[in-house]
Amino acid sequence: MARSVAVFVGSLRKESFTRKIAKSLGELAPEGLNLTFVEIGHVPFYNQDEDASPPEAWIALRQAIRAADAVLFVTPEYNRSMPAALKNAIDVGSRPYGQNAWDGKPGAVVSVSPGAVGGFGSNHHLRQSLVFLNVPAMPQPEAYIGHVTTLLDDSGKLVNEGTRTFLANFVKAFADWIEATARK
Ligand code: FNR
Repeated sequence: MARSVAVFVGSLRKESFTRKIAKSLGELAPEGLNLTFVEIGHVPFYNQDEDASPPEAWIALRQAIRAADAVLFVTPEYNRSMPAALKNAIDVGSRPYGQNAWDGKPGAVVSVSPGAVGGFGSNHHLRQSLVFLNVPAMPQPEAYIGHVTTLLDDSGKLVNEGTRTFLANFVKAFADWIEATARK
């Protein structure tokens, strides 16, 4: 069965390593698993005062989440947590109270870093929010992509064979996770 996956990239910069890894995941996805990037950089900060008359970007973001069968977060680590832009998207999608667009969507998390720890802190802070939002996040395999600068060539292509195999297995496991956890 074809499944649509909304992909959220935590970095906003043009040459983001994280986005390059996310693109590789899209290329490695098994047939029938369609990854679509949802942009979050322009989404205004969540402000409860605007619930009654929400900005267009909030409405569009919530619709994009609802339209997807599953959600994939690919994020760098900022100060041992997730970047504010990604947290904002999560907050906007979770409101108004009682209308959590994330509710029940199967999810997965990939963290990326030039450092050795692979964004572990970001990955797990994000997972903490997903528990509260009732997003069943795939527990295994975990994906902490460290030393990312050594995995890509100058054009941003993923050239490390071990990482390609790992990510292909990861995205295949996610496809299986979606089938196992999606609401019937
Ligand atoms: C970072 N960086 C970083 N890296 C890390 O492994 N752990 C961390 O806690 C942080 N903290 C942090 C805070 C802020 C504000 C910035 C801008 C950066 C470095 C970060 O991993 C690096 O800049 C990556 O290249 C960011 O990902 P993209 O933009 O390449 O996808």
